Amino acid sequence: MRSLPFLISALLAAPLLSSFAATSSPSPSGPIRSRVQDDDDDDEEHEHSPLHEAMNQMQAAQRAMRKLSRDPVGNKEALLRAVGAIEEGALTAYRLPPPAPEGENPEAWRIGFRRQLLQLLDAALAAELAVHEGDAEALAAAYKAISGAKKEGHDRYQEDEDDDD
Ligand code: HEM
Repeated sequence: MRSLPFLISALLAAPLLSSFAATSSPSPSGPIRSRVQDDDDDDEEHEHSPLHEAMNQMQAAQRAMRKLSRDPVGNKEALLRAVGAIEEGALTAYRLPPPAPEGENPEAWRIGFRRQLLQLLDAALAAELAVHEGDAEALAAAYKAISGAKKEGHDRYQEDEDDDD
C-alpha cells in the first residue's frame, strides 16, 4: 500500500511546513511530483527516506526564504525560521550519506557528501548573519551560495537530478 506511508510522512512534515504557510505553497512542487511518478520499484523506501524528508524540508524553507528576502527587515523573524530550517535540514542530511555507486570509493563518497553539506551550512549561516544585520545585499549573496551548494550537491550526489532553482 503506497498511500499510507505518504500520508504519515505528510502529517509529520506538516508542522515544519506550517511555519512557511503564509509565504509558500504547502503542496509539492512540479519536480517533486514528477519524481514521485518517475520513480521505479524502490519508490516507497526511497521516497520516505529520512534524507529525502530533510531535502524536502530544505526545499520548502528555501522557497520561503526567496520570497521573504524581498523585505529582510520586515520579515526578519520568518526569515530566521526559514534559514534555521535549512540549517537543520543540512545537519540532518550530513548524517545520512546515500550509498556510493559502483566504482566510487565509499569513504571518499561519504566524506565528499558531508563536506558539501558543510558548504551549504556555511552559506546558511552567512544568510542568518545577513538577516540579523538587515543586509539585503549580503542576504542575496548568501542565497546564491545556498543555491550553488545545492546544485553542486545534486550534480554529484543525486542520482536523478531535479534542480529548479
Ligand atoms: C538548500 C539546499 C538543498 C535543497 C533545497 C535540496 C532539495 C532536494 C529535494 C527537493 C530533493 C528531492 C528531489 C526529488 O527526488 O523529488 C533532493 C534530493 C537529494 N538531494 Fe538535495 N537539496 C539541497 C542540497 C543538497 C546537497 C548540498 C546535497 C549533497 C551534499 C544534496 C543531495 C541530495 C540527494 C543525494 C538527494 C536524493 C535523496 C533521495 O531521494 O533519497 N542536496 N534535494
